[in-house]
Amino acid sequence: MFSHKVCVAPMMQYTDMHDRFLLRLISKNIYLYTEMISTGSIIFGNCLDQFNYNHEEHPVAVQLGGSNPSHLAECAKTAEAYGYDEINLNVGCPSERVQKGRFGACLMLEPELVAECISSMSKNVEIPVTVKCRLGIDDREDYEFLSNFVDIVKSSGVSTFIIHARNGLLKGLSPRQNRTIPPLKYDYVYRLKEDNKELNIIINGGIKNLEETKEHLQKVDGVMIGRASYDNPFMLSKVDELFFDKPSSNKQKVEILNEYLDYVTIMSDKGYDLSRMLKHLFGLSKGDTHARAFRKKVHQSILDGDIVKSREQLLELI
Ligand SMILES: Cc1cc2nc3c(=O)[nH]c(=O)nc-3n(C[C@H](O)[C@H](O)[C@H](O)COP(=O)(O)O)c2cc1C
Repeated sequence: MFSHKVCVAPMMQYTDMHDRFLLRLISKNIYLYTEMISTGSIIFGNCLDQFNYNHEEHPVAVQLGGSNPSHLAECAKTAEAYGYDEINLNVGCPSERVQKGRFGACLMLEPELVAECISSMSKNVEIPVTVKCRLGIDDREDYEFLSNFVDIVKSSGVSTFIIHARNGLLKGLSPRQNRTIPPLKYDYVYRLKEDNKELNIIINGGIKNLEETKEHLQKVDGVMIGRASYDNPFMLSKVDELFFDKPSSNKQKVEILNEYLDYVTIMSDKGYDLSRMLKHLFGLSKGDTHARAFRKKVHQSILDGDIVKSREQLLELI
């Protein structure tokens, strides 16, 4: 099993295969997650675009959204055949659309069903199945709620829990507000690890940099970073050496950009949308003197639908 010491969070519309390719140029060891893909869209729809990944991305987990054990088992088998390294079940998304489908965060109220879903997937695949959840739902803010959820779910044999360290509010807050308004309670996650030493506990929510990552790793097995790493992907450049005991690639931003632009050119020839690939570059210049000019140039390249013309200028500005 790969190490979850530092992971990048699943983020819809953000951590697509292109963003994950870019992140992999920066760190060889971070654990990557796809955006959530619903079982419905795998079985009945056309989500090949979301399901696709580059072989360079390993280790990479696919995140599934669903609550029908047999549908999940079918999707898990498909994911394994595709070559994913792990299947993660989304038990943390509070959006109304997802609630209507009876999956995501509302499943925290049905731990027995979550256990059944995990068992059903695990029986059908060799790769690990993991869970990403919240601390609690609505006014269930007590530690016992989380602890009871984990006790029941772990009976399915699942050993890795990724915990977004805040409650999910099912009514009245948008998904975005649900990522900022409910308070972070890291101490619940630390206590969960204390009480379940045998489990692999990954903490998530509001973690901004590698110093904070190091602090959390004193208490838990892994850290998952979402928005901070999207806004500034280069923050991950020292992860391999600091947390995985492996040499960092020591690539400068300009080398990363150069390799990514090669990738974009190849993929755009294959028909992938240029704007979807280029938008992931906005954060690469974070903190640099020419950050604004670089972002403007990226924006211009998106509008022009062309990077041949702007390639040299982009490379000069980074
Ligand atoms: C734009 C966006 C999309 C997200 N999509 C997903 C998703 O598909 N699945 C999921 O489990 N969490 C999703 N999340 C939540 C993140 O995985 C993470 O739990 C949350 O952002 C807190 O971590 P952070 O403070 O490091 O960003 C999303 C977050 C953002 C900002």
